Amino acid sequence: MTINQVLAVATQKLQKNNIPNPNMDAEILLARVLKCSREYLITHFDKNLNNQKIRLFEKYISRRVKGEPIAYIMGHKEFYGLDFFVNKNVLVPRPETELMVDETLELLTRNRQPATIIDIGTGSGCVIISLVKNFKSKFPISNFQFLATDISKPALTIARKNAKLHHVDKKIRLFHGDLLKPIIHKSKILNYKSKMIITANLPYGWNSWKNNCSMDTIGLKFEPPIALFTENKGLKIIEGFLKQIKQIANSKKINFNSNLLALIEFDPRQTIMLKKLIKKILPDAKFKIKKDLSNHNRLAKILI
Ligand SMILES: C[S@@+](CC[C@H](N)C(=O)[O-])C[C@H]1O[C@@H](n2cnc3c(N)ncnc32)[C@H](O)[C@@H]1O
Repeated sequence: MTINQVLAVATQKLQKNNIPNPNMDAEILLARVLKCSREYLITHFDKNLNNQKIRLFEKYISRRVKGEPIAYIMGHKEFYGLDFFVNKNVLVPRPETELMVDETLELLTRNRQPATIIDIGTGSGCVIISLVKNFKSKFPISNFQFLATDISKPALTIARKNAKLHHVDKKIRLFHGDLLKPIIHKSKILNYKSKMIITANLPYGWNSWKNNCSMDTIGLKFEPPIALFTENKGLKIIEGFLKQIKQIANSKKINFNSNLLALIEFDPRQTIMLKKLIKKILPDAKFKIKKDLSNHNRLAKILI
């Protein structure tokens, strides 16, 4: 069979199973099998493929037909212009999370003092690694500390692998545990005198949303539930995080000079509930809601 023929069969199969963008997915997966670009497929449409390649391509297509995210089949995903290794133990990085990186980089540029940057629920490590790789400040990077935590050990293994892949493993320290717990009381790790910037893309999915997965979101079923879902309408883990921030703010070790900034990603439908939660737990904090590129509320920036 030729490139054109296998693509036509695969596209039809994906289409029949309501997979969005069937043509593009078939091309991406075939390019992966042939280790070539999608342009090559177009210019070599009548090239014959051997059985081994066809079988591998069919295997990929069957996985995609079941709704498995293309990033898991490929084993990697682009985020902030960088390539990240991903597997079923980590969330596939989402484009909307790039806003968190943009905002943090802007803060670092404007910052008048060095800081400690902490990424909680780091998953593949995409946020903290993108921050180190795109670091912008008038101070040398050696004055900054980059820490990350995750409750999932398999996720931390992937974050470590990605940090090595991008040659930043010496710069980022990874910790296993619940939110800030592995570092919060360790003055040897956490410098309470320095400004803190905390990025948090934590699970914020809720049950009824999970149960109503459309074909577009069926890929969620392949992602680790620990990365996606939590109770209290998706706000339980964020609530735990806000309480930890309060603990840091109340700690005598920290001087209260607007020196803790937290950036929390959420679902636009949680805006009102999240605002109430922030006001309840951190009544003295200033906060702003930032919109993503689709003009949806996406990021809460909390200043203490
Ligand atoms: C939505 S994923 C985000 C991953 C990554 N930050 C990203 O943007 O792609 C949430 C991550 O939080 C981790 N997580 C869930 N509960 C946690 C907790 N209580 N403490 C620390 N990490 C947690 C999950 O294992 C998962 O890696």
